[in-house]
Amino acid sequence: MIADIEQKQAAFAAAAGQAATPDQLKTLRSEYLGKKGFIPQAMKRLRELSPDEKRACGKLINDFKNQVENRLEELTQTLQAAGGKAEGKGKSAFDPTLPGRKETPGALHPVTQIMDEIISIFFSLGFDVEEGPEIESDYYNFEALNIPADHPARDMQDTFYIEDARVLRTHTSPVQIRVMEKQKPPLRIIAPGRVYRSDSDLTHTPMFHQIEGLMVDKDVSFAHLKGIMDIFLHEVFGKKTKIRFRPSFFPFTCPSAEVDIQCVMCSGKGCRVCSQSGWLEILGAGMVDPAVFQHVDYDPDEWTGLAFGLGIERIAMLKYGVNDIRLFFENDLRFLRQF
Ligand code: DAH
Repeated sequence: MIADIEQKQAAFAAAAGQAATPDQLKTLRSEYLGKKGFIPQAMKRLRELSPDEKRACGKLINDFKNQVENRLEELTQTLQAAGGKAEGKGKSAFDPTLPGRKETPGALHPVTQIMDEIISIFFSLGFDVEEGPEIESDYYNFEALNIPADHPARDMQDTFYIEDARVLRTHTSPVQIRVMEKQKPPLRIIAPGRVYRSDSDLTHTPMFHQIEGLMVDKDVSFAHLKGIMDIFLHEVFGKKTKIRFRPSFFPFTCPSAEVDIQCVMCSGKGCRVCSQSGWLEILGAGMVDPAVFQHVDYDPDEWTGLAFGLGIERIAMLKYGVNDIRLFFENDLRFLRQF
């Protein structure tokens, strides 16, 4: 029996040295420690031995048992550390069934999204994109747009003045002048960008975004203006949205109009958002005033033009039902993630 045990010890040592997978460990364990395994069976056979033999063999088997247990434990740990799934339930260092870590990619700000959408609509109508400076001279922001120093229309805009007849531009209209100075008609441009006014409440922030539009050609008429506004507003707010033009005044256009859309909240029935009128003012527009053409040396007898200007945040608020413009600039991710 002693020889038997010694032979098994050698066999175990060899097999353990080869074991590399959880399955192999499992087989070893049952071969040596399982009910029908060598060690429990050998213990049973002790009964048949003489007391002396029993003592000697008993100790040998016990030692062997400890040896097998320790070695198997050691191998299990090595396997686990190597990332293999070890014997036993859920005792793994690497669980391939766990859900992966989510990536949280950034997204475009809602104001940028609307801006891009509007730009691409006008791009498809043949408009090029132009830009101008945010620190603007009094001349471009007012004078060349037919708003002389003592003109009451200067009060319409709460201007931030910087020294030397410079201002933070109050609108994107000065880009009209800059473009006409360097290009000859015909031309079709839009000018998106930041503008500044000293004003702050639920619907005004000191900085906001506008898009300016200008088209100059032979025989451009108010019908073109209406057609372009129709296409643009239907694209942004949906084909069924009703649109109306209301007479208005801007120093740089004549005639001038304000364009309204049917209230997006109540579909024209009248609600708090539209002050019960059923309509929402959405942009200013008109035919370029000949006085503006004179500032850029365009012959008003040869060329006519249409112009329009709109506030991006206002469109975003109406489109998404946002009631406080300041939300766009607080950068609270809970707000931004909704777009
Ligand atoms: N610049 C005007 C404003 O900020 C908006 C505007 C009105 C622009 C009429 C235009 C226009 O080009 O034709 O209030």
